[in-house]
Amino acid sequence: MKILVTGGCGFIGSHTCCELLEHNYEVVIIDNLSHSQEDVVDKIKTITNKNLKFYKGDLRDKELVDKIFRQENIDAVIHLASLKVVSESVKKPILYYQNNIESTLTLLEIMTKYKCKKLIFSSSATIYGNPEKLPIKENFSLHATNPYSSTKLYIEGILKDLYNSDNEWAIAVLRFFNPIGSHKSYLIGENPQDIPDNLMSYIVGVATGKLDLLNVFGDDYNTKDGTGVRDYIHVVDLAVGHLKAIELINQTSGIDFYNLGTGNEYSVLEIINAFEKVNNVKIKYIMTARRPGDIEAFYADCTHAKEKLNFEATKGLEEMVRDSYEYAKRNS
Ligand code: WQD
Repeated sequence: MKILVTGGCGFIGSHTCCELLEHNYEVVIIDNLSHSQEDVVDKIKTITNKNLKFYKGDLRDKELVDKIFRQENIDAVIHLASLKVVSESVKKPILYYQNNIESTLTLLEIMTKYKCKKLIFSSSATIYGNPEKLPIKENFSLHATNPYSSTKLYIEGILKDLYNSDNEWAIAVLRFFNPIGSHKSYLIGENPQDIPDNLMSYIVGVATGKLDLLNVFGDDYNTKDGTGVRDYIHVVDLAVGHLKAIELINQTSGIDFYNLGTGNEYSVLEIINAFEKVNNVKIKYIMTARRPGDIEAFYADCTHAKEKLNFEATKGLEEMVRDSYEYAKRNS
């Protein structure tokens, strides 16, 4: 089976490609390298000892996408390509709507043209907004709180409409919680630009001396220690989740939505403490005000993914914080 992975050079994409190749899928990547490097392609080949095809370009380039489908005989698509920084999306909403939505529409148009109707779409747990209760189930109400999550929510709607128009589609929408960690080869991992937005990138920045100190955004939340609580999932587990989703959409048409998390809840301080203990390094931090728009706590109910995808995360916090640091040490 030949899978097109959009954004395949990125953090989640590269790990997903490794998982696919190791399970004997053929892989074609399209990536515009706006937030990733081309050498990731060679790293994936080194890790897996398998070959893959790489197209450098933008998904909004209809001619290119058409050419890929004409040449490659794609069986299914894993659509990960997306801009993803919440704070940037607030400042540049048009960029986010254009990039994330236009690219998806082009992709879906060409997939339809070539009768390729199997799709995995990477959505985000941020579309639950401030959840009414915890843990979060897939049928909870959805409301975007920033342009980035709006793009994910719109695309989920587009995919529902698409399936309603043609029941031959097989679509799995994966709602990611907070991916961290890296591949055990430490060849691929997360490469944030400039000043990172997310917690783990910031922590490794401080640990490797690139950043002075971590601001802990708020210690007055109604959580176990006052700091924000999230559901962190190892990126390799997330990649395995994609593999399970491919297996499912291969068997049956339909559209369904899955939380990909661990169901575990960790506060910012628990993450810092685990990072310090496992990696034997001190993280300098100060408590600061809440970050505007932040949610107090969110973590997944993973029952649906377990029952329908046969997916369960296996990697714990120790492995996550160790792998995040080991990758950063070798690549910063
Ligand atoms: C986690 C916790 C912060 C940075 C992100 C993305 C979003 C989505 C999911 C893909 C919070 C605290 C953070 C820092 C801190 N990904 N924090 N100091 O908020 O869940 O959202 O992940 O869809 O795009 O924005 O993750 O890592 O930013 O924050 O104290 O310097 O760490 O307040 O409690 P979040 P995060």
